[in-house]
Amino acid sequence: MSALRRPIPRYAHGSRVPPGWDEAADLTKEPSPVPDPATTEVPATLREEIEGHMALYPDSRSATLPALEAAQRVHGWCSPEAIEQVACVMRLTPAYLVSVASFYDMLETSPVGKHSVYVCTNISCSLRGADELYGAVRTAAGDDPEFNVRAFECLGACDIAPMASVDGAYVGPLSIEDVPRLLDDVRAGREVLPEKQLARRPCADAEASA
Ligand code: FES
Repeated sequence: MSALRRPIPRYAHGSRVPPGWDEAADLTKEPSPVPDPATTEVPATLREEIEGHMALYPDSRSATLPALEAAQRVHGWCSPEAIEQVACVMRLTPAYLVSVASFYDMLETSPVGKHSVYVCTNISCSLRGADELYGAVRTAAGDDPEFNVRAFECLGACDIAPMASVDGAYVGPLSIEDVPRLLDDVRAGREVLPEKQLARRPCADAEASA
């Protein structure tokens, strides 16, 4: 079956959205309070980074996204512990942070592999074979728990379609033949497909990609 005709993945309850999104909150429960700094341990480097983000804005809540991203880097995902630590430093309730984390799909609310491979399957990439590319990456990564392989909406690099973001590095144009080396590079801790990295493409500003 061609990748274009693959069935749409669904959760066990038959929907494309995760279970629980339509379940109302239990209003009889007390909301989690802002964590007590005296009893909440926060890694010093994480605290420092979050405070650095907060210092940039008149309203410290503007630092919510970078603070959650920092905690995700430390914990691998926005785990309850990560949320608790960010809430403690920012003096916010965990519920506020969960409401943000559950809205932005680059913030993970369940455990994932530590290497992210986002294959863009939006229109420009799709017209240049992204669906087959995505299928090939998924097949090659298999059940390897180190990888978080996902299809993604336009990543803003349509000029290198079809492309992917691999742990934040944009690579493209990619072919199916690139897939084994892409995964091997990640597994070996090497720079991914250096000759296909957007950051290394020549541009008018000679120092921009130095
Ligand atoms: S459509 Fe793939 S980067 Fe824009």
